[in-house]
Amino acid sequence: MTKTIALLQEAIYEQAAVEIAERGYSIIDGFLSTMEVNQILKTIHAEEAEGAFNPAGIGQGSDFQRNQKIRRDEIRWIDHNAPPASCVPYFERLQDLIRYLNRTCYLGIRDMEMHFAVYQPGGFYQRHLDVFHRTQSRKLSAICYLNPEWTADDGGALKLYLPKEDGTEETVTVLPEAGRLMLFESHAIEHEVEVAHRERCSITGWLKDETQLF
Ligand code: OGA
Ligand code: MN
Repeated sequence: MTKTIALLQEAIYEQAAVEIAERGYSIIDGFLSTMEVNQILKTIHAEEAEGAFNPAGIGQGSDFQRNQKIRRDEIRWIDHNAPPASCVPYFERLQDLIRYLNRTCYLGIRDMEMHFAVYQPGGFYQRHLDVFHRTQSRKLSAICYLNPEWTADDGGALKLYLPKEDGTEETVTVLPEAGRLMLFESHAIEHEVEVAHRERCSITGWLKDETQLF
């Protein structure tokens, strides 16, 4: 990497660190290039055709029907230590970002869990928090969107609910645009995925510290 590119990248990471510290979330556009996104989409569609995806669950031990009222997406876990070739640039860049955040924000991120997520038309995920009793170690939710030319009419927006000091809340709406990386504090920010009208793909996961309560 040339020195100029390294400095540019550092500036982007610094902005993310400041935003996470100040308001609990950050959006990095262009985290993946169009070409990188297209390669990952090829992997997703090949794995989908092989039947490798499963309906996503919630919490633990909940029954499938209840799940379907709360979320309707399909997932496929990724081994982040041996990801598909198309995902290598993403994981390398994410590791780089994690190193920066650990150095500057003392987040203590040591581990991650990641999956592909696909919402078919009609898919959604109702308002929720990403931390439940078994997952206290989740520090940051990290979602990289893979949807070229997504518009507001396609639905499927991520909506963040941000508590304000006066007790009311503010909402932020984020479109799942190709190459965009969304980071937010898993234990603090409630959020939902609005009904998607088009297939909506992402790599979704969590950056974790070492807390192991169970
Ligand atoms: C999740 C989630 C948000 C998104 O999978 O827990 O909230 O925008 N995803 O895909
Ligand atoms: Mn979530």
